[in-house]
Amino acid sequence: MDYKAPRGTYDILPADSVRWQELRRIFSEIARSFGYEEITTPIFEQSDLFERSSGESSDVVQKEMYRFTDKRGRTFALRPEGTAPVVRAYIENHLDQKGNNKLYYWGPMFRYDRPQAGRYRQFYQYGLEFIGSDNTYFDAEIISFLWSFLSGLGLKNLRLEINSVGCPNCSKDYDLALQTYFRPHLPELCPDCQRRFETKPRRLLDCKVPACKAIATGAPSQLDYLDHACKDNFQAVQDYLNKLEVPFVINPKIVRGLDYYTNTAFEVIYEGLGAQNSIAGGGRYNGLIEQAGGKPTPAIGFAGGIERLLLALENEGISLGEESLPDLYVVAMGEAARDMILPELGRLRRAGIRADYDPDKASFKAQLKAANNSRAKYALIVGEDEVNTGMVMLKDMQSGEQVSLSLTELPSKLASN
Ligand code: HAM
Repeated sequence: MDYKAPRGTYDILPADSVRWQELRRIFSEIARSFGYEEITTPIFEQSDLFERSSGESSDVVQKEMYRFTDKRGRTFALRPEGTAPVVRAYIENHLDQKGNNKLYYWGPMFRYDRPQAGRYRQFYQYGLEFIGSDNTYFDAEIISFLWSFLSGLGLKNLRLEINSVGCPNCSKDYDLALQTYFRPHLPELCPDCQRRFETKPRRLLDCKVPACKAIATGAPSQLDYLDHACKDNFQAVQDYLNKLEVPFVINPKIVRGLDYYTNTAFEVIYEGLGAQNSIAGGGRYNGLIEQAGGKPTPAIGFAGGIERLLLALENEGISLGEESLPDLYVVAMGEAARDMILPELGRLRRAGIRADYDPDKASFKAQLKAANNSRAKYALIVGEDEVNTGMVMLKDMQSGEQVSLSLTELPSKLASN
């Protein structure tokens, strides 16, 4: 048998786990400092939750969802994104009545797409949802959160792009304008764009096929079709961003791949990642909660991909977290020594000291070699003499210095280092 991880998936190996844990710790800490609480939803949901919310016309739902039927014939989907599940949980658990409207999450998402650098079939997202206000201050606050998280990690090559996709009213006019523009070019467009022309014309702006891209350069701009309220709204977001000192550029071609967005939409682009250069994205979704069966409630949020973030950090030589090494490696010679030290091993571990021991290494030499290979700070040596005197030998593996001490002195000696 030659088993392999499924295409587009990967293992997070011990050597990488430290960086993952550190990123998660930093993200959670900032989220809590902004007043957000963690939420964890199931990895699968009824598939129509995504079909109705993330959008029947979106690629994510049309082409990329992992659907399956359970034994009773119900259709579920591995979640392709986190917003619809959070909204479902918010409505189902009456989180509005419990005051839990600032939520953050971290976990795997699944999209069936052609894997390439920075694009996986199982990938991880960190994300944030703010539910319950359409005040533009919160648009800017959410964006400033994302910006301070990413730039706070030390990343330099970041570009924040913002746009307004308008409200359902003015976006209809824009869709009509786009159809008028693209209609004469229909035969030259790729089959996907020909389909998108009918269902969601603005997706034509986002196509990566060179011929479609060239045609899209002359397309009308979303910003020229915003109604008064949406224009003011977009201006207010920009004013707040300026006050919060968050640098941004306006990109009227930001479309977003999911259907639920209204007004503010944004992405953080990282130059140097090739085609998959969006390291985070989000926006406002004022209609989604009502659409998912809740009371009409405005909301805004974002999500970022951990893999792309790690690639960006690597690209700038930013390392996170230190490899965790054992504090202590126990070298016990003979049965009496082992019996003396095993209860202590348990006590040390309960006290938070990382201690390793391997009874399969028989000789003193093999055990010391193992202590060396483990890169532990100390070797705790217990031989026949130690058993007789009730003392143990603590060897500093770097300096080679050895001290003899009693077991009761050991925890304070280790704590003092
Ligand atoms: P999204 O733009 O589809 O938005 O995904 C957010 C981020 O997830 C992307 O910017 C990218 O970093 C990462 N990502 C997406 N697909 C993949 C993939 N196949 N492989 C690796 N990374 C990927 C959302 O998912 C929305 N739920 C964001 C949101 C939250 N909007 C409002 N609230």
